[in-house]
Amino acid sequence: MNIAMIGSGYVGLVSGACLADFGHRVTCVDVDEQKVAALQSARIPIYEPGLDRLVADNVAADRLFFTTELAPAVAEADVVFIAVGTPSRRGDGHADLSFVHAAARSIAGALRGFTVVVTKSTVPLGTGDDVERIMGEANPEADFAVASNPEFLREGAAIDDFKRPDRIVIGTQDERARTVMAEVYRPLYLNQAPILFTSRRTAEMIKYAANAFLATKITFINEVADLCEQAGADVQEVARGIGLDKRIGPKFLNAGPGYGGSCFPKDTLAFVKTAQDLGTPLRLVETTVAVNDQRKRAMARKVVAACGGAVRGKRIAIFGLTFKPNTDDMREAPSIAIIQALLDQGAHITAYDPEGMDAARAYFAQIDYAQNAYDAAADADCVVIVTEWNEFRSLDFERLKAIMATPVLVDLRNIYRPKDVERLGFAYASLGRPNGID
Ligand SMILES: NC(=O)c1ccc[n+]([C@@H]2O[C@H](COP(=O)([O-])OP(=O)(O)OC[C@H]3O[C@@H](n4cnc5c(N)ncnc54)[C@H](O)[C@@H]3O)[C@@H](O)[C@H]2O)c1
Repeated sequence: MNIAMIGSGYVGLVSGACLADFGHRVTCVDVDEQKVAALQSARIPIYEPGLDRLVADNVAADRLFFTTELAPAVAEADVVFIAVGTPSRRGDGHADLSFVHAAARSIAGALRGFTVVVTKSTVPLGTGDDVERIMGEANPEADFAVASNPEFLREGAAIDDFKRPDRIVIGTQDERARTVMAEVYRPLYLNQAPILFTSRRTAEMIKYAANAFLATKITFINEVADLCEQAGADVQEVARGIGLDKRIGPKFLNAGPGYGGSCFPKDTLAFVKTAQDLGTPLRLVETTVAVNDQRKRAMARKVVAACGGAVRGKRIAIFGLTFKPNTDDMREAPSIAIIQALLDQGAHITAYDPEGMDAARAYFAQIDYAQNAYDAAADADCVVIVTEWNEFRSLDFERLKAIMATPVLVDLRNIYRPKDVERLGFAYASLGRPNGID
């Protein structure tokens, strides 16, 4: 099958490479000339484990191509995926669909023969209808069907998620489109990944409902962590105690500094806005959004408290900048709000992240960046673990203590056990766990 992937970012590039690996012929298109030039010369513009190898293998097999030229890629395609960004619209929080609409217009003019056009970007209810209308107006002669196929991959585990998904959701009521989409995902069907065929609007709704549910689950355990802190209970044991209930499940129950990333913040907000527009507000999700926003500032207050009530003139080392490990993605990372609040209160920041420092420089030019955790911690009054990269899980505490000005550790991911760290002579603060526990 011939596939054109419009947008070659975190989702488009991974999806394109995986679809090529299934045996399809895939052309990834992007308007970003630098990105395409990098890909054409075998440089992967993002950090995603395993992606460099997957891309190289499929380029070598003549199944994966990169271009800025949309028209020829679309003309020869049986299926065109739209995987462009849908960021929050400035000012009102609705999804900004300008990239999707622009892509739809360009695709319409380039279609040759029956083509299935698929929104893989996360788009609000009714966007498939808009895409269909825009394309029909732009090229009344074109023979196409618009389907929705939301993507559920997680950065950091994106290839595995794409190749071994919990489910594939396809929204279309067009029989020809259904047949084509079944063929696209046939290799996964053989792996017994469930394919859910549904209406386009339902597919659009499934993606937002899934993200809002997960964001709410995270926010729930974060609030329970705060309560545990006051009540002298241990949130990790509470999470285990409730997560063993199969109706609840153990995932997304790790207390942390609030959800961030390129999806949950904008998707929860867009979901809330859509619901308000339709006169059926989602009050639970509205509260999730508000609680999560407040949490990031509360994390900065936690650091200030650990530093004795003020950080003016203090040196704070930040371990981890990206919104989660195994990605270089800084979008809406909790580190941004935490660092900003600490800077506002007069702290000096030195940060270290294994993959995110280039992207972080666009947010903070004025902080120092170190080449490793220990360089960041030199002379620091406090170390703050913000992102749980593996290399922060086995820190050499003797070494840290020797190089820090004062041995204070704020662990916003509950990587360590309070008693272990305190025994080594550190003042230790974590989330939802009383000090002195094992
Ligand atoms: N990142 C994730 O983990 C993830 C997971 C699931 C779903 N999504 C959704 O997938 C979509 C894409 O997200 P992303 O993280 O890959 O974004 P991204 O910003 O990394 O990539 C989008 C790409 O589209 C390109 N682009 C924009 N307009 C274009 C056009 N007209 N023609 C060709 N290329 C164009 C941009 O240059 C950019 O490279 C979003 O809707 C997002 O919500 C993302």
